[in-house]
Amino acid sequence: MKKSQPTSATQPYQLWGGRFEKAASKALEIFSFSLRFDYRLAHADVIGTMAYARALERAGILSRTEARRAAKALQGLATELATEMATEMGCKGADYFAGAGEEDVHTFILSRLRSQIGPLADKLHTGRSRNEQVALDFRIWIKQAIRVQQAALRSLLDALASAAAAHGSVILPGYTHMRRAQPVLFSHTLLAYFEMFRRDYERLENCYDAADVMPLGSGALAGSGFAVNRKQLARELGFSRISRNSMDAVSDRDFALEFLFTATTCFLHLSRFSEDWILYSSEEFGFLEMADEVSTGSSLMPQKKNPDSLELIRGKTGRVLGSLVSLATTVKGLPLTYNRDLQEDKEPVFGAAEQLQMALVLAAQVVASIKVNPKLMKRAASDGWLCATDLAEYLAHKGVPFHQAHQIVGKLVLDNTNSGTQPSECSLSDLQRHSSEFAEDALDLLTPEAGVARRAVAGATAPARVAEALKEARRWLRGVGRS
Ligand code: ARG
Repeated sequence: MKKSQPTSATQPYQLWGGRFEKAASKALEIFSFSLRFDYRLAHADVIGTMAYARALERAGILSRTEARRAAKALQGLATELATEMATEMGCKGADYFAGAGEEDVHTFILSRLRSQIGPLADKLHTGRSRNEQVALDFRIWIKQAIRVQQAALRSLLDALASAAAAHGSVILPGYTHMRRAQPVLFSHTLLAYFEMFRRDYERLENCYDAADVMPLGSGALAGSGFAVNRKQLARELGFSRISRNSMDAVSDRDFALEFLFTATTCFLHLSRFSEDWILYSSEEFGFLEMADEVSTGSSLMPQKKNPDSLELIRGKTGRVLGSLVSLATTVKGLPLTYNRDLQEDKEPVFGAAEQLQMALVLAAQVVASIKVNPKLMKRAASDGWLCATDLAEYLAHKGVPFHQAHQIVGKLVLDNTNSGTQPSECSLSDLQRHSSEFAEDALDLLTPEAGVARRAVAGATAPARVAEALKEARRWLRGVGRS
């Protein structure tokens, strides 16, 4: 059967076919059709087509009446999609597209228009290629997705700042090599995560800028043969600038890679945070208790309360990193301009965005509902010689060369550990047995509070510094809250 533009209403619309004598095999159809995932671009596609119709009118391709008719139909479709797809990111709404036979979202939208305005719909594709169209739609989608992720990140950052304010004076051991190192404020650890997520927020802003380039007018690869006003198109579509090279524009996926790198980095931070809190909420640590709403039970062991939210966040980090590797590998061997391989760009991005948004929401819930056990934290910071560095620094202040001071206190720790003496049980003569430089004021260094207070440079854990850091964090949050 000769395959050309379909005439029957039951046959799916197709944007190509004139030079073919046979239809594509079923296998190719199944392998290549993308509507089942790129339907998420439907809203962006309609917005892009609306602007393009206006550009065609200005270029003299569409009459005023035609442009009006097209605009009306497109507006109707946009409204329909808005209700059907429920969310801006278009994560819902798959049902609306289920059963449609079109190969991709661009064809689907034109097909819907065709059923309303007939051949005028075909005119809307004048001088336009799906290569530039998909690049445009994807950029519009990612820009919206970034705003959604930033809002979710802001909620997590808010929760971290509130927890830091609520537990301002709580002290716990800080760890290196997962061994007790020095006492720190719990709020200082929360603000450490605040810094990571703040960087993620800013990285997302950079991704937004990378995506904020308007490719329409690039044609299939060589640029449009019609006098479309690209700058005006960019303005109407909310882009800050236009692409400078048509061959690059149809195949540039740097913005998607940057988004995936950012999503991966954010997941790495979420995963590290999860690891800490899974440990801190274990029976062995007992520092934290996670709320029921974010925990699960065991089907066999009735006593279990498991931190599945955080384990899943840690677990999903793998697949998001996988999506970055997947797209980087797709792009790696591509010759210039559009190749169909690029269709593989969307699923990793959609998947990562979906997972990231959910992970951020859950992490914020975990933080907002956490129960803190300051007693156990403090005990862990008091037992053992977390004050050893402070004692060595005390001797250094007295003029003892630091390496010697280090040796002296090392021996002091060894002796006291062997005899089972805790810092709280240590007398001045115990200290002086190791160095005559120790005086009465050295005894003040044996509590975790003293250790925390001594670390008073900018960025350190002293209560006054952490209070300042929290103030700055909140000021920053208020600033991005307005963006
Ligand atoms: N579904 C395609 C994609 O996602 C749209 C562009 C198709 N272009 C083409 N020349 N076959 O990349």
